[in-house]
Amino acid sequence: MRITLNDDFVPQSLNPSDVSGPSGGQLLKGVFVSTYGCQMNVNDSERMLALLEMMNYSSVAAPELADLIIINSCSVREKPVHKVRSEVGRYRDLKRKNPALRIGVGGCVAQQEKDSLLKDMPLLDFVFGTDSIDLLPEIVSTLETGKKVVRARFDHQSPYHIQTLLRETKVTAFVNIMKGCDNFCTFCVVPFTRGRERSRPLDQVVKDVQSLVARGVQEVTLLGQNVNSYRSACGADFAQLLLALCESTLIKRIRFTTSHPKDFDLNLAKVLQAHRDKLMDYIHLPAQSGSSAILERMNRGYTREAYIEKAQMLMSEIPGVALSTDIIVGFPGESESQFEETMELLDIVPFENVYSFKYSPRPLTKAARFTDPVSEELMNQRLQRLQRKQAQIAESLAQKYIGRSLEVLVENRGQNSGRLCGRSTQNRLTQFAGDDALIGQTVKVKILQAHAQNLQGELL
Ligand code: SAH
Ligand code: SF4
Ligand code: F3S
Repeated sequence: MRITLNDDFVPQSLNPSDVSGPSGGQLLKGVFVSTYGCQMNVNDSERMLALLEMMNYSSVAAPELADLIIINSCSVREKPVHKVRSEVGRYRDLKRKNPALRIGVGGCVAQQEKDSLLKDMPLLDFVFGTDSIDLLPEIVSTLETGKKVVRARFDHQSPYHIQTLLRETKVTAFVNIMKGCDNFCTFCVVPFTRGRERSRPLDQVVKDVQSLVARGVQEVTLLGQNVNSYRSACGADFAQLLLALCESTLIKRIRFTTSHPKDFDLNLAKVLQAHRDKLMDYIHLPAQSGSSAILERMNRGYTREAYIEKAQMLMSEIPGVALSTDIIVGFPGESESQFEETMELLDIVPFENVYSFKYSPRPLTKAARFTDPVSEELMNQRLQRLQRKQAQIAESLAQKYIGRSLEVLVENRGQNSGRLCGRSTQNRLTQFAGDDALIGQTVKVKILQAHAQNLQGELL
């Protein structure tokens, strides 16, 4: 996934008569951030822009308009790592035309490769890791003196202190509740790029959400690599955090990601059901594989049977809950029959969405040393088979929404469709005709057409 965060601002340096700078008419500079990877990176990019705005930078829609370019990188698979290098290469001409342009890499590749990135790519001026985002103001000041900068130390402070920064009021916002990961799934680089797991104190998350509500936010998505292992310094667990947010804030909707099948318990399911008005009936529960032998080699901490049991528990405790998952095909040693077990899992658990990936060996991970790779050709075949099957399942699962009336939080007007867009409680993208005044409100929409990717309806 590649998301480029674009804004409509034009930096004042290009059009001085149109914009008045926030600090006494000082010229605004343009910053362009391109973002790869997960929601955590999307949220980190928003934080970078918010910090830079305080330094008189304004987000611009194209790198050609920028004085500062940041690539917020992802290293979960090899492909996005290559994209960083090719993106930096594309800026060669811009830098030649404008030697004052500063280019940096942040995020997970930066955290892993640190100063070696600067050596590999002379075009780069700075590198900063996942724990160094708040150092951006200092980094940018140092850049202005002409020096190159590397900041990629992990902050080992416990607990984790952070406050959500927003540039503008939005209907929905991401809120970090923890950082890092201690699970060390054998395929995964995240424990190395995000460090050890740390949770934010419960009272700080509650205050954070209260202030987002005061700014008009209607829905928060709580972020962590394994939200089920959240533990506040006061001892509260994730279910208690959700209860505190339901009881002590006026937030309308709460979502969270990512849940880990080994740690999702009955008590949490009961809390979700008891507070369905605020806690959304959608759970992303990455299975990774449907074979117990592969799950064991992945160090996932559950078997095929335990996963199925957990999914069934969620479906019976939270009637109508929508489930989605992540699947890796071609993990080292995956046999045809083990892959078939993953295919069968799709028949047993009705996933509305499956995000599927070809296994990609990552540096420092245990699986990178496994010596029984699955060929690229087989991986391609398996990925296609899985995706074809899931496309059919998703299309048919979507049909159950036809004729139903869903509660939709209206987020914006779609640029292509021209229709209002929002999400149902089950996280279904829903489009319908309506007035802009409805943006930010929860409305009832009757579904007339259903596709795997979106629902079309009419306002009730
Ligand atoms: N913390 C989350 C997800 C982290 S990464 C979790 O535990 O599920 C997001 C997804 O990328 C993973 O769920 C996995 O399906 C995929 N992924 C991670 N490492 C990968 C690798 N080396 N090759 C292919 N896919 C990978
Ligand atoms: Fe990676 Fe596993 Fe941690 Fe998820 S739980 S971030 S897959 S190590
Ligand atoms: Fe990628 Fe880092 Fe997220 S590796 S998936 S951006 S935690």
